[in-house]
Amino acid sequence: MKILLLGSGAREHAMAYNLSKSALVENLFIAPGNPGLASIGILQPLNLDDQASVLEFCNANQIDMVICGPEAPLAQGLMDYLELHNPDLILIGPKQKGAQLESSKAFAKEFMIKYEIPTARYQSFDKNQIQEAINFGKSLGLPLVIKADGLAAGKGVVITQSHEESEAEIKSMLAGKFGTASSTLVIEEFLSGIEFSVFVLTNGHQYVLLPTAKDYKRVGEGDTGPNTGGMGSISPVPFADEEMMEKVKNKIILPTLSGLQKENIPYQGFIFFGLISVNGEPFVIEYNCRMGDPETESVMMRLQSDLARLCLQCHQGRLDTASVKISPQHVATIFLTSGGYPGDFEKDKLIGPLPELQHGEQIFFAGVTQKNNHLYTSGGRVIAVSCLGENRKDAIDAAMTLAEKISYEGKYYRKDIGFDLV
Ligand code: AMP
Ligand code: GLY
Repeated sequence: MKILLLGSGAREHAMAYNLSKSALVENLFIAPGNPGLASIGILQPLNLDDQASVLEFCNANQIDMVICGPEAPLAQGLMDYLELHNPDLILIGPKQKGAQLESSKAFAKEFMIKYEIPTARYQSFDKNQIQEAINFGKSLGLPLVIKADGLAAGKGVVITQSHEESEAEIKSMLAGKFGTASSTLVIEEFLSGIEFSVFVLTNGHQYVLLPTAKDYKRVGEGDTGPNTGGMGSISPVPFADEEMMEKVKNKIILPTLSGLQKENIPYQGFIFFGLISVNGEPFVIEYNCRMGDPETESVMMRLQSDLARLCLQCHQGRLDTASVKISPQHVATIFLTSGGYPGDFEKDKLIGPLPELQHGEQIFFAGVTQKNNHLYTSGGRVIAVSCLGENRKDAIDAAMTLAEKISYEGKYYRKDIGFDLV
């Protein structure tokens, strides 16, 4: 098969790491990718907002399968466009309607309530309902969770600790703090528990479960400071045991798939269930219509099955006979970032010679660029390191050691990934 993988981060690098080993894959194109991925795929400088150019590339290169990493092209209807103009393409990633699970929090919440999928109590409000929003917020108590309805690059969720703060936040969001993404708000009850991520690959009827993972979103140690695109992850999640996963399957995964069917929403691709365990009961915090970052880095380290084959089986309606082989080992991923991120940070720092990788170690590139055969930093999240170990501690220690060996000015990373799981 000729595969076109869309995206440019460490998540896509991790997917490419699996795909590039597949006997089924004749050519792996990555668009736009980043220079760190040039050794495992053929980079194509496509603009994913330009749907016609993606289609043109697929047609010109006899692409068989398109796998989409990030959510934005899905929310913009890239898969609808490709399907309409080239029905032979195998598309891994939902069309616009299915992508609403992520692109509209109001849609996702309404869907969960309708299909009795456990989630926090909520209501949604628009700019004509400021007072109603404030009153509803008060009725839920504190802390309060206020979410922009649309995609806001992971920044659209604010948790407030006082009624004054809630009121100010509601007003500022409805006045356009996140542009049109916050012209509708979801206000919901705060759930207290521990979060984890569950991933399936599905064709809307059948699904396979991928390894569970837990990500660390805050920039500071001890989960403090502002949210980021993700500072690290671990897999497996110790409390996502058989009993918990049975509940996740029966209360969340199966009702989600049957809900999509009842809504007549065909869905082929990944669903990422952002869950929270509240006293041993799983609740959905959010859906994403794609894999997580930096969870995918950990997931792909443990996934021993061929992802290209699974995607093909998904498309062929044969996931019921697919076998997903998962390493019993543990993995830890640590993201190396530019100092100052997620606030202002400097770019264009020379990345020193990379360490030679031992068995069970990987480097996945994100915000890097290349000049004169050298890699330079070009983003907030620069490089993810992922290491396997016999247990979580070994995996974390190995990832820490690998993280230390990479050098560039301003390098920052959390040294406590997995801290809450002792
Ligand atoms: P989201 O973008 O919906 O995943 O929200 C970002 C983060 O906000 C989540 O990962 C949680 O840490 C937190 N969060 C969102 N909703 C809730 C909730 N109802 N209760 C507690 N924390 C939440
Ligand atoms: N790790 C969270 C996300 O990818 O949205």
